[in-house]
Amino acid sequence: MNYKIAPFTVETCVQAAILHASTFKRSWSEKELKTVLLSTPGTFGFKAASLQGELWGFILLQYVIDEAEILTLSVSESHRRQGIGTKLIKAAMKQLFVKKAKRLLLEVNQYNKEALLLYKSLDFKTYGRRKNYYLLNDKKQADALLLEIKLNDEFNL
Ligand SMILES: CC(C)(COP(=O)(O)OP(=O)(O)OC[C@H]1O[C@@H](n2cnc3c(N)ncnc32)[C@H](O)[C@@H]1OP(=O)(O)O)[C@@H](O)C(=O)NCCC(=O)NCCS
Repeated sequence: MNYKIAPFTVETCVQAAILHASTFKRSWSEKELKTVLLSTPGTFGFKAASLQGELWGFILLQYVIDEAEILTLSVSESHRRQGIGTKLIKAAMKQLFVKKAKRLLLEVNQYNKEALLLYKSLDFKTYGRRKNYYLLNDKKQADALLLEIKLNDEFNL
C-alpha cells in the first residue's frame, strides 16, 4: 500500500469534502473546509494520499499558544486499519512538538468505538465528558468524551 503523508493545503479541500461527506452525517463542504483552513488562525493539517493523488485520509487541527485540538480526522472506509489514522496523528504531534505545544486535545462521541481504540492505542487519556453533546436522532443523544495527550519528549514518534 503506497501512500504519502503531506501537508493539507487549499488544493486538498475538494477531495477532503467528498471524504468528509462519506464519513460524517454533519459534514463540511469544500467551502467550509477552505474557510476553516484559511480564516481560522493556527489551523493546519495533513493528508494521506496515494501516489496517484487519491485522498485516503486527512486530519485538521487548530493550534493556539501551547495547546492544539483535533478539529476533524477521517480515513476512507476502504483504507482503514492500515495505520493511516495513526500516521496522520503522529505527523501532527511531531509538528506540534516542534512548535512547542504542550497538549493535544480532542472530543469524541462515546459510542465511536474505532476512534476511541485509535486514541487509546496512542495513549490519549480521558479528562472530561460533555453530557448529551451529540444528537444521534430524535430520541438518542451521546456524550462527548474529552481526551488529551501531553506532548513531551517522552512520547514515541
Ligand atoms: C477512527 C479512524 C480515523 C481510524 O483510522 P484508521 O486509519 O483505521 O486507524 P489505524 O489503522 O491507525 O488504527 C490504529 C489502531 O486503532 C485501533 N482501531 C482502529 N479502528 C479499529 C476497529 N475498527 N476495530 C478495532 N480496533 C480499531 C486498533 O488498535 C488499531 O491498531 P491495529 O490495526 O494495529 O490493531 C477511522 O475509523 C475513521 O475515519 N472513522 C470515521 C471518522 C471518525 O470517527 N473520526 C474520528 C472522530 S473523533
